[in-house]
Amino acid sequence: MKNPYKMSYHIEPSKGLLNDPNGLIQFGDTYFFFHQWNRFGLDHTYKEWGLFTSKDMIHWESQGTALVPDREEDRHGIHSGSSVEHAGRLYIFYTGSNKNNNKRKSRQCIAISDDGRVFVKQKEVINTPECFTQHHRDPKVWRGKDNWWMLVGAQKKDMTGAVALYSSTDLLHWNYENILYSQDLDQVCECPDLFSMNGEKDILVCCPQKRTWIRDESGDREEVSSYASYIPGIFHEEKRNFVPEGERRLFDAGFDFYSPQTFTDSKGRRIMTGWMSRMSGKQEEACPTKEFGYIHCLTLPRVLTWEKNMLYQRPVEEVFTLRHNARTYLKERGSFDTENGQFELLLIRKGGDLPLSLSIRNHTVSIEYDPETGILQVNRTDWADGGTQSRRITLTELFKLQVFSDNSSAEIFVNDGAVVFSMRYFTGAENLRVEYDGLQQGERLEYFTL
Ligand code: FRU
Repeated sequence: MKNPYKMSYHIEPSKGLLNDPNGLIQFGDTYFFFHQWNRFGLDHTYKEWGLFTSKDMIHWESQGTALVPDREEDRHGIHSGSSVEHAGRLYIFYTGSNKNNNKRKSRQCIAISDDGRVFVKQKEVINTPECFTQHHRDPKVWRGKDNWWMLVGAQKKDMTGAVALYSSTDLLHWNYENILYSQDLDQVCECPDLFSMNGEKDILVCCPQKRTWIRDESGDREEVSSYASYIPGIFHEEKRNFVPEGERRLFDAGFDFYSPQTFTDSKGRRIMTGWMSRMSGKQEEACPTKEFGYIHCLTLPRVLTWEKNMLYQRPVEEVFTLRHNARTYLKERGSFDTENGQFELLLIRKGGDLPLSLSIRNHTVSIEYDPETGILQVNRTDWADGGTQSRRITLTELFKLQVFSDNSSAEIFVNDGAVVFSMRYFTGAENLRVEYDGLQQGERLEYFTL
């Protein structure tokens, strides 16, 4: 049977389960996107790093396995982490998980590669300081003014989340400095990141996670809930502190977005990719790609910028090289079939006062905007129970909507990337209908096959 959900320009595994993007870097002229991978099954019981490479972040080649659990420190999992280039070599930082005798031990581990193909694990490891539990993971490393910095997602002994800061001068030996941030981070903070936007603002990324016991008709089960967020502020290197400027905000307004990671490329762009399948337990259970032996995917790589006191996200411009079969719709309302599930819709509004609606794939995903209340709502069909899930935001105006669909995902960029809704959706290959309503004079809807 042909797979109607297969992605064409997003990273997904050929088999097994993929989760976080790891070690994102441009090394030489090649983009290296590593990722969490269970090559042997569709659950989270085994993790190694897989690798995809690309010259343009749109056409990807799977390189298979990069790092496997093969020593005491990481025998129960090569968990998430990052990479940097130094003196022409690739330094990889990951969390080694060990659960001997049911006792969790986490160490931050290092591997070095000269060519991006062979990775040599180093003997140096970072043991978890006393003030934390062994939920200590996902090292993110970057170059500071005088030294290297590392953030590690942490849990304090009082069982609340925190971000731990480390420093190093040689990338091999690390000193624990202090807690950089720990406000309302639920039970554990996962996948932290910190980067400067134009030297003007620093962005701290935190993914708070908590586990709760749910009792329903199917019995007792543990549900993990987590979300990706960021805080704008200033990281003072000398004082080793982060001073927030404003509230913590959601990274993405959609459904399945988690563990974003960033890097800069040779063009100086701050690029972010996230895991686009952080689903509920029931949705993961019912995910239709499992029938084809694999599950989950990453988002489009997006360029981050800081504008008007907000973090903007726009797809890398390389995606526009895929555009063909352009069509433009100008009528107030209409419907048409897309060629397949890979397409872009670009809707330009000129201060119109009509309510707007736009749906794709026969209403599997729909967008409604009411200019009177400013509410923009995105709905999708929940494949686990057939119900509808909605997310909403309030806008002062809507002037641009851009939808990137890839057979079983949609990423909706609102007002040039001021807000993004990311999500998976699953529907039959025959459901290709787009419907829209609410265009006024001078406004338009453009379509491209991708
Ligand atoms: C986030 C996460 C990380 C961990 C990895 C394990 O999704 O839980 O904290 O390193 O996934 O796969």
